[in-house]
Amino acid sequence: MTLEVIDPKLLFRDEIANLPVYKTGTKFQELTEEQSKQDMLRLGSNENPYGPSPQVLKVIQESLNEVHLYPDSTCTDIANQLGDMLGIDSGRLIFNSGSEAILHAMTNACLRPGDNVVSLVPSFPIINIFSAAAGANVIGVPHEDDLTFRADKFCQAVSGNVRMVYLVMPNNPTGSYFAEPEFKKIVAAANPETLFVLDEAYVEFAGDKPDYPDAIKILEAAGQPYISLRTMSKAYALAGMRIGYGIAYCEEFATLLKRTSTVFNIGGMTLNAAEAALADQAHLAQCLIAISTEKSRIEQEFVSHGIRFFNSAGNFICLSLPTVEQALAIEAGMQKNGIFTKGQKGRGNEGVLRITIGKPADNDRMLAVLSALI
Ligand SMILES: Cc1ncc(COP(=O)(O)O)c(C=O)c1O
Repeated sequence: MTLEVIDPKLLFRDEIANLPVYKTGTKFQELTEEQSKQDMLRLGSNENPYGPSPQVLKVIQESLNEVHLYPDSTCTDIANQLGDMLGIDSGRLIFNSGSEAILHAMTNACLRPGDNVVSLVPSFPIINIFSAAAGANVIGVPHEDDLTFRADKFCQAVSGNVRMVYLVMPNNPTGSYFAEPEFKKIVAAANPETLFVLDEAYVEFAGDKPDYPDAIKILEAAGQPYISLRTMSKAYALAGMRIGYGIAYCEEFATLLKRTSTVFNIGGMTLNAAEAALADQAHLAQCLIAISTEKSRIEQEFVSHGIRFFNSAGNFICLSLPTVEQALAIEAGMQKNGIFTKGQKGRGNEGVLRITIGKPADNDRMLAVLSALI
């Protein structure tokens, strides 16, 4: 006799049981036998190919004899260090194991069933999952035919009954952003109670765009509630260590959010590594220059091949393709050649292919394979 065991879906809230699967950028488990690990080129998750500061590696080695000890759950040292760097009160900072963990905490804590969240289309798809889990709807504002986003359309969307604006700047996957005058208009159009969740995971790379706005300054001047999400995963090259932070508009907001999170969520080694990474700004600057230089070179190649791409302030370039099937076919073709990129759904039935900027030789290899496929 077989034992009848309850369907696990019945044990979860309907919103959770019906969640779609999130597609991550890398699929190493699908590597075929003929592809060795050495041949593999990871251009699918927007990592920094140069790796972290040598100081980070040294600190990690030194931390090995402390792994039996609990870390400092208050994150006081890194909060003070970052507070000084950013010129803000450290009490407004919140840390977790990656900025996506903070976004998760935010959506769990702030969204109510039936709430509206405004975002760009396409954008970081995880917002759709986290919002659906909370019973909230995402209103997406798509880009125009010329691959730009129109601020007036975003203003229209935010001026309605909106609990949260989830604005990724530079946007993932397109790298787009609103320049200062446009961003000011958006903030002015919003209800004063609407929370701006500004996902600035790629903000360090935007230094090569002179018109990139100081979004925090604009939100502060307007008195709008906000949290800016930042990460050590991208420019600081610590994706494997798992640490991100949030800058909240006031200390009380950060305190409330901390209450909803687990207490020991960042390891001691990770905290030490992040502090060392923040301290080595020269290493960061070198990486940013190398990536920006390569981005311009790749963009020129794309222009000469007539390839359509978005204006990106991130460490990646995003191609626009007529259909999602085409995007996924190119992604699969690249992967057959050992190159991981990320194809996904774009506006309507369109597709996009996001390619992380690698080292020069890696980019040459990517360009050769891509031009044969496109
Ligand atoms: C826009 C955006 N936000 C957040 C994250 C997650 O970053 P973390 O590694 O800090 O969780 C990513 C990672 O790809 C991202 O693209």
